[in-house]
Amino acid sequence: MRDLRASGIKVEQQALWILDQRKLPREEIWRLCVSAEEMVEAIQSLQVRGAPLIGVAAGLMVASLCVQGAEKDQVIAGIKSLASARPTAVNLAYCMKRMSALSEQTNWREAMINEAQALFDEDVELCNRMAGHGELLVQPGDRLLTHCNAGSLATVGVGTAIGVITEAWRQSKNIKVWVSETRPLLQGGRLTAWEMEQAGIPYDIICDNMAASLMAQNKVDKIFVGSDRIASNGDFANKIGTYSLAVLAHYHQVPFYVVAPHTTLDLECKTGDDIPIEQRDALEVKGVNGGFGELQWSPEQATAYNPAFDVTPAELVSGWVLDSGVYSLQEVQAGALCRL
Ligand code: MRU
Repeated sequence: MRDLRASGIKVEQQALWILDQRKLPREEIWRLCVSAEEMVEAIQSLQVRGAPLIGVAAGLMVASLCVQGAEKDQVIAGIKSLASARPTAVNLAYCMKRMSALSEQTNWREAMINEAQALFDEDVELCNRMAGHGELLVQPGDRLLTHCNAGSLATVGVGTAIGVITEAWRQSKNIKVWVSETRPLLQGGRLTAWEMEQAGIPYDIICDNMAASLMAQNKVDKIFVGSDRIASNGDFANKIGTYSLAVLAHYHQVPFYVVAPHTTLDLECKTGDDIPIEQRDALEVKGVNGGFGELQWSPEQATAYNPAFDVTPAELVSGWVLDSGVYSLQEVQAGALCRL
């Protein structure tokens, strides 16, 4: 396998390393990943996260098993456990399907190594294309709001929603970014803020519950978010809190865009009702835990509800920014996504 490098994952001299995103931005800790079990744990604990990244990471893990000379049944078992590590992001299933399709080839190990490298290269290219299409929607001086982290840490390229934002910045559009902190795991306040720092883009972190008053004061011009799975009617799942932003944007007439590669489309889901939503540990809501330490503020016995994602109905979306272009609600309702 050749050397590969992205913000959240790298291959160096055949060894696969992941950046532990739980610890960012305080600490940058790279962990060696040798087995499918380790990668499953890394994906489930969000050391590796973001829909495109978990798909490519799982692909590289399978390639690494091939490099290590694992037997076919071990590799197939690895693919199976990786595919079900998290349920909502369809990119994981997509990448594992592409890997398992090669298991009957004579040179299956070599084929899988090449396929994982292709998944990596393709994601870089898809991100560049989305950034190019989405950037055209941004006007100089726009104040853009984004949720969770849909940047280079969530992909192996420039990101999806944040790819659009960084491309607009690169085009000297003089933008400002509202970064919603994204409770409970703070991907916005920790990871997107870290990416904004790295890119030098002016930003302010806001608590999730501040978005409504910002929109009421006309301080948000556009919203760009990523996605974990888009149904064929355009409904889409993304980090919990995305739906509230879409409702607020609709009420305040703020354009609301979802940015995702075709690997996030799931045409087998007819509507958002078919998208499985991951439920996570109550402890994530009862406190916080990260490079900054651990704190639980709720009563020890408190119970909590913790869906990791919500579904935004297509009617609330102003445009779908995909690698093949920007699609309107009318186009999506006419079946545009089904023809991709
Ligand atoms: O639970 P996470 O951090 O993996 O959730 C990530 C998101 O919801 C992102 O917005 C989505 O995966 C798109 S990333 C390009």
